Amino acid sequence: MYPSDIFSRLYSDHQGALIYPKDEEAPSEISDILQTNIFNVMLSRRSQRSFDEKQVEDWKLEMIFAAADTAPTAGGFQGFDIFHVKKEDVKQKLVQACNGQPYVNAPVVIVFCMDPSRVRMNFTADLITKFSIQDATLAAGYSQLAAHALSLSTVWIGMIDEKKVMDALGTDLIPSSILCIGYPKKILQPKPKRSLKELIHEI
Ligand SMILES: Cc1cc2nc3c(=O)[nH]c(=O)nc-3n(C[C@H](O)[C@H](O)[C@H](O)COP(=O)(O)O)c2cc1C
Repeated sequence: MYPSDIFSRLYSDHQGALIYPKDEEAPSEISDILQTNIFNVMLSRRSQRSFDEKQVEDWKLEMIFAAADTAPTAGGFQGFDIFHVKKEDVKQKLVQACNGQPYVNAPVVIVFCMDPSRVRMNFTADLITKFSIQDATLAAGYSQLAAHALSLSTVWIGMIDEKKVMDALGTDLIPSSILCIGYPKKILQPKPKRSLKELIHEI
C-alpha cells in the first residue's frame, strides 16, 4: 500500500465495504500513523514557530494535501485553491507580506486561497465570498491536523497583507491563511484552553 492511495482507500474497497480500520499488511510507519486517534491529534497540537531543517517527506506532503481535499465545502464546489510555495525567493516575499514573521520561511509553506469562481450557486456575491473563505479555512484546518498526525508541527498565519501575498504568488485569488509546516525543534505542550463551561452557551 502506498501513501498516494491511502485516502481513496479509506472509504471503500471494490465491494464498497469500509476498509479502514483494516488488517491488511502496510508499511509499519504508515500503519501506525493511520491508527492515530483524532482526539489525541487535536488535543496534543500546539503552534510551532521554530522548525528543524529536516526535510518533510513527499509522502507526508501528499497526505496533507489529500486531507485538505477531504474537507467539506459549500455545495461541494471546493471554492479554494492551494499554493505550495517551494521557491526560496517567494518564501522571503511571504515573510515580508506577513509582517516580517521570520518563521513563515518554513520547510513547507502552503497558502490557502479563496476561489469563489468555483462556487457555482445562485446566491449573492457576498455569500459566495463567505462560502469560499470558509472552504479555504476548513481545508487549512484539515491540513493542519493531518500534519500534526504525521508528527509534524505547524503554525497558522493569519496576519497577512493580502495584496503582497497575491503579488508574491502571482495570483488574483485572495489568500485566507498560510500554513507553515516542519519538524519541530522542540516538542511543545499544548496551551491551556478555556473551560468548556465558559465556551458553551446553552440556550
Ligand atoms: C485566524 C488565526 C490567525 C493566526 N495568525 C497568526 C500569525 O499571523 N502569526 C502567528 O505566529 N500565529 C498565528 N496564529 C496562531 C495562533 O497564535 C495560535 O493558534 C494561538 O496562539 C493558540 O495557540 P495553539 O495553536 O498552540 O493552541 C493564528 C491562528 C489563527 C487561528
